[in-house]
Amino acid sequence: MSSSSTLVTAEHFAYVAAHTRGEDAFLLELKAAAVAAGIPAIWISAEQSSFMQILLKAAGAKDVIEVGTLAGLSAIAMARALPPESEGGRVRTIELSDKHADFAESWIAKSDVAGKVDVLRGAGADVLRTLADDSADAAFLDADKSGYPTYLSECMRIVKKGGLILVDNAFAFGQLLDDAPTDPEVGAVRKFNDLMAETHGLHGVIVPIGDGLWVSVREA
Ligand SMILES: C[S@@+](CC[C@H](N)C(=O)[O-])C[C@H]1O[C@@H](n2cnc3c(N)ncnc32)[C@H](O)[C@@H]1O
Repeated sequence: MSSSSTLVTAEHFAYVAAHTRGEDAFLLELKAAAVAAGIPAIWISAEQSSFMQILLKAAGAKDVIEVGTLAGLSAIAMARALPPESEGGRVRTIELSDKHADFAESWIAKSDVAGKVDVLRGAGADVLRTLADDSADAAFLDADKSGYPTYLSECMRIVKKGGLILVDNAFAFGQLLDDAPTDPEVGAVRKFNDLMAETHGLHGVIVPIGDGLWVSVREA
């Protein structure tokens, strides 16, 4: 068996998407309404949603924290992978922008997971500091990249041992390896990727799905 990896091309990504469960009519409608409302279309892809749902189901996660709600798409997708509200399934999703939080709340309210998602308004670092130790089974970080080190350190306290810490955009919007990146957050992503690799008590790997997803488990 070879230890080398296949170079993943755009064609592979399209193939993966074509072989993965897509979004339902409700999420497609949500995305169209978000674009019409002037919300940027920077939500996770359908195949990343599926991958995260599978991880959450396999981990038996009940209580999930998210930083970066946007229009509520990933929060709704994650909530669908959790047990019913009566059995503790819930997503607490943190959003700085009132416009995004208002939109997400209105769509969450008419979704099939209405009782399972709470939008917590405020800056990620401020809200995370209010959450109890060992109170979540998983976290998904998908907001300002300069805040990621603080979010990680808070998640190492909030997520239970054995729980998942997922972090988006490890490939820095496709510019991770560029000599002259144009996106101002690329430097923060590079530093954060180094931090993830060095963090004691965290076992992680960057999975080449979407814009690169850190999948890690809190060990200590
Ligand atoms: C990439 S979008 C999240 C996409 C969403 N997770 C999805 O896939 O459906 C990032 C969101 O983070 C929010 N955000 C930016 N800085 C933040 C901060 N300091 N605290 C909380 N949210 C923040 C933005 O307003 C934006 O809605």
